[in-house]
Amino acid sequence: MSSGSQRIAGLSAVMRISWCFLVIATGTVFAVPAPHHPRAVNSSACAQIAPATAAFLSRNPSATPQVSAQLAMDCLQSVPNKPEPAKALVKSLKAFVQWQSTLAWLKDPPASYMLPATDIEGGLDNISTTAAAGGFASEYDFQLSIFKLNTLSSDIISVSKDGKEVPKLYNLAALNNNTVAPAITKINGQDAATFISDVNLKFSSFQDPDSQWNSMFKTYANPTGMLTVAASLAFQGSSVTLTYDNGQEKTEQSFAIIRPGINFTGVNTGEDFYNKFLNPNSTQSQAANTTSSATPTPTSTSTSSASPSVNTLAAPAPTISGYPFPIVRDSGANTTAGYFLDGTGYDNVAVLSVSAFSPAGNIGSIEYLTNFQSAVASFLSKCKVAGKTRLIIDVSANGGGFVVAGYELFAQLFPDVQRFQADNLRLADSLVNMARISNSIPNNFSATNAVEENAFSVLQNSVVTSNLVPGGVFGPDGSNLDTVEDILGPVSLKGELFTAYQQAPLNQTSAEFNLTGTGTRSNPPPSVFAAENVVLLTDGTCGSTCTIFSYLMILQLNIKTTVVGGRPQTGPMQSVAGVEGAQVFPLDEISAAASAVIALSPSERKAELQAGELGVLADGYALKRLTSVDNPGAVNGKNAFAATDSQTPLQFLWQPANCRIFYTKEMISSPTATWQRTVDATWTDPAAFCVEGSRVAMNVSSQSVDPLFRLGVNNTKF
Ligand SMILES: *[C@@H]1O[C@H](CO)[C@@H](O)[C@H](O)[C@H]1NC(C)=O
Ligand SMILES: *[C@@H]1O[C@H](CO)[C@@H](O)[C@H](O)[C@H]1NC(C)=O
Ligand SMILES: *[C@@H]1O[C@H](CO)[C@@H](O)[C@H](O)[C@H]1NC(C)=O
Ligand SMILES: *[C@@H]1O[C@H](CO)[C@@H](O)[C@H](O)[C@H]1NC(C)=O
Ligand SMILES: *[C@@H]1O[C@H](CO)[C@@H](O)[C@H](O)[C@H]1NC(C)=O
Ligand SMILES: *[C@@H]1O[C@H](CO)[C@@H](O)[C@H](O)[C@H]1NC(C)=O
Ligand SMILES: *[C@@H]1O[C@H](CO)[C@@H](O)[C@H](O)[C@H]1NC(C)=O
Ligand SMILES: *[C@@H]1O[C@H](CO)[C@@H](O)[C@H](O)[C@H]1NC(C)=O
Ligand SMILES: *[C@@H]1O[C@H](CO)[C@@H](O)[C@H](O)[C@H]1NC(C)=O
Ligand SMILES: *[C@@H]1O[C@H](CO)[C@@H](O)[C@H](O)[C@H]1NC(C)=O
Ligand SMILES: *[C@@H]1O[C@H](CO)[C@@H](O)[C@H](O)[C@H]1NC(C)=O
Ligand SMILES: *[C@@H]1O[C@H](CO)[C@@H](O)[C@H](O)[C@H]1NC(C)=O
Repeated sequence: MSSGSQRIAGLSAVMRISWCFLVIATGTVFAVPAPHHPRAVNSSACAQIAPATAAFLSRNPSATPQVSAQLAMDCLQSVPNKPEPAKALVKSLKAFVQWQSTLAWLKDPPASYMLPATDIEGGLDNISTTAAAGGFASEYDFQLSIFKLNTLSSDIISVSKDGKEVPKLYNLAALNNNTVAPAITKINGQDAATFISDVNLKFSSFQDPDSQWNSMFKTYANPTGMLTVAASLAFQGSSVTLTYDNGQEKTEQSFAIIRPGINFTGVNTGEDFYNKFLNPNSTQSQAANTTSSATPTPTSTSTSSASPSVNTLAAPAPTISGYPFPIVRDSGANTTAGYFLDGTGYDNVAVLSVSAFSPAGNIGSIEYLTNFQSAVASFLSKCKVAGKTRLIIDVSANGGGFVVAGYELFAQLFPDVQRFQADNLRLADSLVNMARISNSIPNNFSATNAVEENAFSVLQNSVVTSNLVPGGVFGPDGSNLDTVEDILGPVSLKGELFTAYQQAPLNQTSAEFNLTGTGTRSNPPPSVFAAENVVLLTDGTCGSTCTIFSYLMILQLNIKTTVVGGRPQTGPMQSVAGVEGAQVFPLDEISAAASAVIALSPSERKAELQAGELGVLADGYALKRLTSVDNPGAVNGKNAFAATDSQTPLQFLWQPANCRIFYTKEMISSPTATWQRTVDATWTDPAAFCVEGSRVAMNVSSQSVDPLFRLGVNNTKF
């Protein structure tokens, strides 16, 4: 059931860097401001970290080691930037970036896209040129990721007095203590909302300003939300100052946490730092040694990675932390549960809360999917028995998960509706080579050595090459893509070449899991709720599989959407504004597939492939600069399109909610209060409860499918 392994998640940090220098610290890719003018390097700073850490630990023996943020920054600024490895890093990243499906639109976005244009390839080229010319004063880079933390700003929330008035910023502790707590007006002397929005533009992975805003604040659905200035991998200043509307001002020094296992003993200069933490060639290196070889990552869930069976899981607590007592809950994934609302005006309403399409922790994919399927089925059947007529689906903070789980939920809600899907991949040279060579290897291939055997197994389980196999993918209208050349197209869009539009229906039966509508689940019960009685509640940060599910609901069934939160201004807000691609490819998966393809390529082509883009990917130098092999970064590998528009990926279209509400103080921590407000604003009295200017009319009829979805080679129809 390799279909279940199409786990997708938020776009990783790699792709959000554009105008900034890319720095790979051990495990993390993060941004720093573009190089400034040469500054005085403080060569003694690194030497002070080991003694400062020891002094801190002697005062706080059981605490996580920390030093002042300024000392950490001073040390980082003394770490040299080395032109040759810097160029090698950019070259490696550029090869991976060829797989980012949105490059052309990022560079020249349509008016519907709310963020500035970003030329990723051009930006990388500039960085390489600057590095080659010795233009960077330091590597600004941590092998031991240094997180900057600041407790003063860690509990800031954004709340409205009544859910309609524009929200203000408060410290949660002060608000809990005192109903007339002062509102925060400035951060570091700048208007607070402007400050937060500006920082978000540089560091947030969400693609519109309102979802970026929401991702910064704690709510019941986003319990770890925190301002960038409160915790960041990049230096945000040595202190934080907050100004309140009662004239009060508070300042706190920032500090840096030293990642566990990292030892600064013997690191006395920036050069020492580089050799110990950044140079994978060095013998004293503490850099992670990654193998770009064939180890399947935890996300490539070939089902053989034995998932615990249902009975091995301990019974979960009756409630999911932060949520009320449910009618139905999952078996421990902590992400899915159903509720019934009480009280006049609410007692016909059921709520299905899906905070992710994957488990919160380490639960096997088959256990999760099987239980998700049965939990949803049981909830819907209880709704029917109880005579519930309206349904809220709360996907707040849902950043995605297994595509098949998104399909499963849709299939149970609306079993009679054919799912529309049209995706494509960017035709990187390495992708074309990978597709042709992997498809030339027969299924009865017999390996002559361990390298080949391993390579064959990598390709059999690859979440990357599975998109390039005839029989696994189909045209959007269900037509066959019989050969690898049918899959490769090319289709030309915005001056670049892409595969033919494709869908992965995930409809093969398997001994482990059948999507509702297939195999033993071919005859599901009919819909319990009519489409007009369902509302999708989001906070805009819906990403990946959440967007796939949401667009099926919105575009195919005109399901209503209500959105909560956003920047402190009235007017409409997008309901879907996370990563709207159809799949991310972890960089280690791309690298492993590239190595495998080279290993299995005809002997006369090996040298040529090794010397090209495929070889750069296989070498995976960028991966050797990671701290943690568990966090390799990813590219958005597949564009997703609406049925009506074959030209612009959904990521770049504006998708307004039909109504917007703001969080009140109570709603921040009370799902029930949020759901009741959603009922009020969606059904009871939208004019009274939706934020001023936020109501957007529903699209009443389904729209026709763009005939260009039948494009094959060079934009000719097939
Ligand atoms: C160098 O950095 C250390 C630690 O931040 C600081 O104590 C010292 O004053 C700095 N020296 C200079 C010359 O800036
Ligand atoms: C490591 O070695 C490779 C190949 O020998 C070289 O290209 C690269 O620049 C070296 N990296 C560093 C950081 O010295
Ligand atoms: C590259 O650098 C040039 C010269 O500084 C600048 O004009 C251009 O905008 C930069 N391009 C990108 C994509 O950053
Ligand atoms: C809570 O109120 C008390 C009394 O006014 C005050 O001393 C304390 O500092 C307040 N705590 C917070 C977190 O605001
Ligand atoms: C750090 O390394 C030094 C020397 O290699 C060693 O003496 C010390 O115990 C190490 N510290 C920790 C916390 O492991
Ligand atoms: C990492 O690999 C290199 C080359 O294989 C080796 O020299 C180095 O000792 C390894 N470092 C660690 C920490 O294992
Ligand atoms: C689910 O939440 C409980 C606490 O309510 C916790 O013990 C458990 O580890 C969580 N499970 C996962 C998969 O995160
Ligand atoms: C593999 O299958 C092909 C045709 O399907 C056949 O000609 C060939 O002999 C088979 N090879 C092996 C090693 O079984
Ligand atoms: C899966 O869907 C494709 C495309 O609609 C179709 O051609 C194929 O027959 C389906 N397979 C099964 C097993 O239903
Ligand atoms: C899926 O359906 C097939 C065909 O009906 C059946 O053989 C298989 O056992 C089913 N799988 C599960 C997990 O029920
Ligand atoms: C209705 O459809 C049009 C055209 O596809 C689109 O621009 C608009 O955003 C849609 N409205 C809503 C509320 O989705
Ligand atoms: C399609 O266009 C590409 C790029 O312009 C070209 O290389 C290729 O030969 C064309 N294929 C056909 C079949 O016309």
